Amino acid sequence: MEKQFVHCQIDEGIAVVTIDNQAALNALNAQTLTQLEKTFDELGQNPDVRGVVLTGAGEKSFVAGADISEFLKVSGKDAPEFMARGQRIFDKIEAFDRPVVAAVNGYALGGGSELAMSCDIRIASENAIFGQPEVNLGIIPGYGGTQRLPRLVGPGMAKEIIFADERISAQEALRIGLVQRVVPRGQAVEEAKKLLKKILAKGPVAVRMAKKAINEGLNMSLADGQKLEASCSGVCFGTEDKDEGAKAFLEKRPANFKGK
Ligand code: COA
Repeated sequence: MEKQFVHCQIDEGIAVVTIDNQAALNALNAQTLTQLEKTFDELGQNPDVRGVVLTGAGEKSFVAGADISEFLKVSGKDAPEFMARGQRIFDKIEAFDRPVVAAVNGYALGGGSELAMSCDIRIASENAIFGQPEVNLGIIPGYGGTQRLPRLVGPGMAKEIIFADERISAQEALRIGLVQRVVPRGQAVEEAKKLLKKILAKGPVAVRMAKKAINEGLNMSLADGQKLEASCSGVCFGTEDKDEGAKAFLEKRPANFKGK
């Protein structure tokens, strides 16, 4: 039977996806990537799932990068396809049509940091360490890191992290906007669930459209981004939830959103 490196547990509409290869600090090998993609494909088909927490097993590591033992067999000719596969899977997580929160419970290095950056929001435990150590191996981040990191922290900081392999503590990650919250060791998953529960009480279509407008708008001009925002507003204003939200406010009661 194939070894399972990715586990998924669904409870009260929240799926907790755990990358579990603790002997290698949850490094992403080819099988793990395949299982991660399959897991998100299945969650995408499951209407009961309303949000996802992505984490690593244990308390030492979220994901310590791509599996370095696989690099020796990747040639310069193979590398673009090797990277494109990881990029495609991380893009899928980024574009997942419900919120995805990374609970970064330790090392988030290389592909681990890139995976966390593909999530909507990052919550770090106080022992988390972020970094892009690829240059130590004579390569560059290949699962989106050269693109997502400067978008999140600015090009100067991204270059410092990528060129010099500057490691970033949880508190420093908070300061530069790489993570949104820092919590005591062992509590990142619970905090992520708590935040998701808050988000899940809001209009689901509104959250979905906000995610689309932000994610896709980041790659557009301001003018095109605002056109996208207007069209996403159109989707929200066409829902029953819009009327329910306004009525609930006027009637001074909590809204009962239906997601349509
Ligand atoms: N790929 C493959 N194996 C990895 C790995 C990775 N990215 N990261 C850690 N491991 C393995 C180690 O080889 C070691 O295996 P072993 O017990 O069979 O020797 C095991 O995980 C534990 O790692 P170790 O280095 O002994 O732990 P540590 O606490 O001393 O150091 C790190 C932790 C994260 C600082 C260190 O493992 C590290 O630098 N990892 C590589 C990070 C990296 O460069 N990632 C980017 C890859 S592109």
